[in-house]
Amino acid sequence: MSFPNWVVHASALGTVALGSLLLRDYLSGKVYKGEEMLLGKTAIVTGANSGIGKETAKDFARRGAKVILACRDLEKCAEAQELISQETHNQKVFCKKLDLASFKSIKEFTDDIKKEEKFLDILVNNAGVMHCPYQKTEDGFEYQLGVNYLGPALLTMSLLDLLIKSAPSRIINVSSSVSQAGHINFSDLNSENGYHLTLAYNQSKLALLMFTKELDKQLKGTQVTVNALHPGICDTDIGRNVKVNKVMSALSYPFRSIFVRQPYRGAQTSIFLAVSPEVEKVSGKYFSDCKEKTVSSEQYLDDEACKRLWLQTLKMIKLI
Ligand SMILES: NC(=O)c1ccc[n+]([C@@H]2O[C@H](COP(=O)([O-])OP(=O)(O)OC[C@H]3O[C@@H](n4cnc5c(N)ncnc54)[C@H](OP(=O)(O)O)[C@@H]3O)[C@@H](O)[C@H]2O)c1
Repeated sequence: MSFPNWVVHASALGTVALGSLLLRDYLSGKVYKGEEMLLGKTAIVTGANSGIGKETAKDFARRGAKVILACRDLEKCAEAQELISQETHNQKVFCKKLDLASFKSIKEFTDDIKKEEKFLDILVNNAGVMHCPYQKTEDGFEYQLGVNYLGPALLTMSLLDLLIKSAPSRIINVSSSVSQAGHINFSDLNSENGYHLTLAYNQSKLALLMFTKELDKQLKGTQVTVNALHPGICDTDIGRNVKVNKVMSALSYPFRSIFVRQPYRGAQTSIFLAVSPEVEKVSGKYFSDCKEKTVSSEQYLDDEACKRLWLQTLKMIKLI
């Protein structure tokens, strides 16, 4: 029996479409299915007005947590707050100004939190910038190093007493798989002698990973855990500094729609690390797709290098 041509073509198209959908779902990574509630818990998510941070905050709100959206732009933050509150029916979602490119702003933020909050159960260091042109933070540090690493390091260290008092509590650092290709340029951490936007981004994400490893050692016996993660390649605003040719962008759309995740999927590993009982006692590790992954970076594996970065960091953020 033979079928008309249009039936053969339609069935081939249907098979390709279904295959693409299944492939996209598979490549989007695991969805965390745990139904743990966070009633009575307080969480801070930095960069919660967009992308992965917004989805992470929304999930915590859905689980009943008090969620503090820590953002540099309060207008964008208020929009996210309204949307999250509406969608989750949780009125305990709050905006607070935090600019990670300013130690003064970080101090004001943490002083307020320590005054206003009795407990802090979850801190997600999610905010980040990528591949921005050379510029400096308010305190004179190269911008990607400052926002992606030094800011979160100062924020975390300033909130440590509260996290310890609230233990068991969890710190989650959103790094990236590019950290594996990163190199810590100890002689010129601040890129004074030459700036390469990709190297600076990779360095900042590796630094966050090495900080996670060293902080875990400092936290032994406290029941505060700290882990880092790669969220997957996600369709967010993180690429805003990358110039894309409009034609290439249109042509590559079908490919990107299969291989690039939606922010909701990108948030899953942050959520897993924040709520899953499976990782209650796991600390100092690196995750992707809700699974622990090994780190191959030589500097990360070198305890001396991690200690050296830790000490240099404490000096840069003026804690020693
Ligand atoms: N998307 C990916 O493929 C991917 C892959 C690996 C890792 N990551 C990491 O995932 C994290 C979330 O990024 P995303 O993809 O969701 O991108 P995004 O949508 O651009 O979100 C980044 C967030 O960080 C905030 N931010 C930037 N500079 C800040 C500062 N100085 N102070 C406070 N907040 C600041 C942004 O605020 P504004 O809206 O005001 O700029 C925004 O809310 C980042 O750390 C990123 O490096 C993303």
